[in-house]
Amino acid sequence: MTQLPGLLDTEAIRKDFPILERTLHDGKKLVYLDNAATSQTPRQVIDVISEYYEQHNANVHRGVHVLAEEATALYEGARDKVAAFINAPSRDEVIFTKNASESLNLVANMLGWADEPYRVDHETEIVITEMEHHSNIVPWQLLSQRTGAKLKWFGLTDDGRLDLSNIDEVITEKTKIVSFVLVSNILGTVNPVEAIVRRAQEVGALVLIDASQAAPHMPLDVQALQADFVAFTGHKMCGPTGIGVLWGRQELLEDLPPFLGGGEMIETVSMHSSTYAPAPHKFEAGTPPIAQAVGLGAAVDYLTAIGMDKIEQHEHAITEYAVKRLLEVPDLKIIGPSTAEDRGAAISFTLGDIHPHDVGQVLDEQGIAVRVGHHCARPVCLRYGIPATTRASFYLYSTPGEIDALVDGLEHVRNFFG
Ligand code: ALA
Repeated sequence: MTQLPGLLDTEAIRKDFPILERTLHDGKKLVYLDNAATSQTPRQVIDVISEYYEQHNANVHRGVHVLAEEATALYEGARDKVAAFINAPSRDEVIFTKNASESLNLVANMLGWADEPYRVDHETEIVITEMEHHSNIVPWQLLSQRTGAKLKWFGLTDDGRLDLSNIDEVITEKTKIVSFVLVSNILGTVNPVEAIVRRAQEVGALVLIDASQAAPHMPLDVQALQADFVAFTGHKMCGPTGIGVLWGRQELLEDLPPFLGGGEMIETVSMHSSTYAPAPHKFEAGTPPIAQAVGLGAAVDYLTAIGMDKIEQHEHAITEYAVKRLLEVPDLKIIGPSTAEDRGAAISFTLGDIHPHDVGQVLDEQGIAVRVGHHCARPVCLRYGIPATTRASFYLYSTPGEIDALVDGLEHVRNFFG
């Protein structure tokens, strides 16, 4: 068995994930390499969610009965855990949403309805990058179409990095918001936050960071990032689906208007007007994803017990090994950085002229789960002149043996297509 320095004890960790025991297609062992799309869930999280439904299920913030109080304590306890996990200065800066897309849309809508000095209008500019997930492109296109604001973006270099050579022309005095991904879901690139934040601060623009592919994989410290908002999702970090997070600086959350209206987000309501609850509740209209938040809290406990620095180290070792092994496959081209430096654990590639959907299908027949397509980042495929990629993405339970299985599987794909 290949041993690499920095690896976690995957034999022990894998026992926490029942699904990793699955076999498919007549007994083939599951090799799960689609972690950038969704990660698997450890027994510790599944148990907490089951216990929530078996013992505590009720609506939050509304009842005086025992179950309502317990559910509220669990839901708000999850907020405390998430706040500590990202080093938020205050728990009230953590808003629960249903996923990262909703978190990103929430910021776009806060700014669309805001008064000065935050309002985005026809005299202002929005800045994103060409490597964004669609969830960090479309909300800004919508805002731009509705307000007349100009949408600008950073392009990409040939090796899958952000081209910041024209940073002073892209981010200008007119820029109201710079929204960019910390770790690309398609290229794996880890972006240079400091340089972008510095320029944004120079011109007084707000900064939103999409940390969907970062929060699961590395220590995330919102204070160190110096951004104004950070978005991520639970289902990529050992938590359940249906829960996302938006962290925002307290004074901004106080100043900015709500987006969704409804129960829970108000202070008083009359037939003529309403006043709003303080953040985070101002941004959490309706019954929130309670069990999902509780599950995310358990995921945070699980990851914290292992150690985010150790997880990062493990994935770096796995990614380094994967890059080396994949580059041994004839005709394979990595789309994105071809070293493990400043790169996350998602590796996209093409294999000669075999269509990625065919690659994915033949790998699946061998029990190997990868994602194929444009990975909701179609502009990246357009930039590199390809219709799609195959993407393998790793996590804390990924092993060198699984990389070897992928490489063998790709040999099989090559033979299959002659
Ligand atoms: N954003 C997810 C991915 O990259 C779905 O696969």
